[in-house]
Amino acid sequence: TDYILGIDIGGTNTKYGLVDRKGNVVNEGAFATHAHEKIEIFLKELKKHVLPKLEGKSVKGVGIGAPNANYFDGTIKQAANIVWGDDVPLKKLIEDLLGLPAVLTNDANAAAMGEMKFGGAQGMKNFVVFTLGTGLGSGLVVDGKVVYGHSGFAGEIGHVSVNPDGRYCGCGRRGCLETYVSATGIKKTVFKMMADYTRPSVLRDVSYNAMSAEMITNAAKDHDYIAIKAFEYTGQIFGQKLADTVVHSSPEAIFLFGGLVNAGDYLMDPATYYMEKFMFKPFKKSVKLVPSSLMDRNAAVLGAAALGWEEIDKDKVIA
Ligand code: BGC
Ligand code: NA
Ligand code: ZN
Repeated sequence: TDYILGIDIGGTNTKYGLVDRKGNVVNEGAFATHAHEKIEIFLKELKKHVLPKLEGKSVKGVGIGAPNANYFDGTIKQAANIVWGDDVPLKKLIEDLLGLPAVLTNDANAAAMGEMKFGGAQGMKNFVVFTLGTGLGSGLVVDGKVVYGHSGFAGEIGHVSVNPDGRYCGCGRRGCLETYVSATGIKKTVFKMMADYTRPSVLRDVSYNAMSAEMITNAAKDHDYIAIKAFEYTGQIFGQKLADTVVHSSPEAIFLFGGLVNAGDYLMDPATYYMEKFMFKPFKKSVKLVPSSLMDRNAAVLGAAALGWEEIDKDKVIA
């Protein structure tokens, strides 16, 4: 069997696996990205974890998904949550490191490709994905194709403005959507809710650094008032921006990824309610907001690999 090594670089963890043409994955793994150290540390970790997994396998190339990645030139530029430099030639660095041809795309675009090839978007021509992790990623698919736009950065919806005087964003500006709608954003909201309300909460005993999206999700499921309020606030801001998103490309569905999605209705209900409330009338009830069907498989690893297969078939970058 021939494989593509799929790599999904996140602000916190990096996941990888060998993916065949049908989307079967072997030799999966993960390691900490070390996003706030030098890129050499990341490359060393990547080599250490991944090289042994390639032994004895026929690996044709590498497909990489990463924040702020630009498919056009193989670089990542000014990532908000990864401080490896303003202009990092990641595709080239990984090609040299592993001795394999590579292709690089935005991590959320990779997730969109995964959903399109192997998930709930199979057969769909127009859809959008959002990944709620360290940051907020999004991938737009229009007429069956991932949209890159003129610059290659189309679909960076995590950095649309919600409030000019709002929370500081890793991108250097204030009030970006991802400072509210992401695993990091909801943490900040939990602390806001704990200050605004006197209700008891299991989350009051947890420090900012120790708090995780999973804890907030579990607290909501246990009917914790603060956690539920935090999901409502997140869902309201998200829903309003989802309505804006719909105007741009009229998707059939919007797929959500990330641990927060496990909170189910606590997130989906306010997000759906406010999406519909703010929706331009001609689009009302035209869009399904749903969790990704690939939640426990890694859509970005699958999608980055799928992009690799596409390139091979086009006889492009990967030979
Ligand atoms: C970046 C995106 C990325 C997202 C999720 C954002 O801060 O700008 O490119 O898709 O985080 O990693
Ligand atoms: Na994107
Ligand atoms: Zn930003």
